[in-house]
Amino acid sequence: MFKPAKVILIIGAGFLGLHSSSIAQIQVQVKGHMNQPSISSKNRQAIAPSTKFEFHPLPYSYDALEPYIDRLTVEIHYSKHHRAYYDNFLKAIDGTDLTSIEISDIFRNISHYPIAVRNNGGGYFNHTFYWEGMSAQGGGLPTGKIAEAIVNTFGSFEEFKKELSESGKTRFGSGWAWLCLDDKGNLFICSTPNQDNPIMDIAEKKGIPLLNIDVWEHAYYLNYQNRRSDYIDAFWNLINWDIVNKRYEYGMLTHKSNLIL
Ligand SMILES: [Fe+2]
Repeated sequence: MFKPAKVILIIGAGFLGLHSSSIAQIQVQVKGHMNQPSISSKNRQAIAPSTKFEFHPLPYSYDALEPYIDRLTVEIHYSKHHRAYYDNFLKAIDGTDLTSIEISDIFRNISHYPIAVRNNGGGYFNHTFYWEGMSAQGGGLPTGKIAEAIVNTFGSFEEFKKELSESGKTRFGSGWAWLCLDDKGNLFICSTPNQDNPIMDIAEKKGIPLLNIDVWEHAYYLNYQNRRSDYIDAFWNLINWDIVNKRYEYGMLTHKSNLIL
């Protein structure tokens, strides 16, 4: 049986001289934000990811992101679009070995699997990641180590904001804009088409995602019609920098995404 996450986690912790409980703590902190069940019930997943993919609850109410993203858009986006990706992902992997593999490891070999796994698995993961990265109390300037990394990489927060926004605004068709961490511990910005993400082996530039912006029209058209640019400008008022910083710290320690589905 293939159990990659457990093996990598243990090797990573040993290599870095860390106890696995330190890594598990970061994961649990992040998952706690998602209004998941008690920490104790999730400890097992922090060490060995579940073989049962879950549809995570929205970490806030449908109207929590107003006025930047309206209630109806969030409701339809989460309960219809995101849910459909999740349901269709489960159908796509039903009866296969993929039901027992961590989703990041599926992505790392996505070119070997049917397109339905790529599209729906990506949609399932990307949206869970997107919801988690926003908060009604979000916005403002980054905090923690990610703030320093952003300035060191892009020169200033304003320059970073400009580059990430531009990445989303210029993505042709539907897709996502991302802030990522590469395997050398450097930040970079990229965009992906459709429901692809930077973990996938087909990505132009591969990395660990830290922040994403959904630039599909279904993310903004009720409130902003065709004005993707206005939606992206508003998105900056919602970014949960505490979560982004935790993703960064976890990625630097483990070279993995801390989002386990
Ligand atoms: Fe979406």
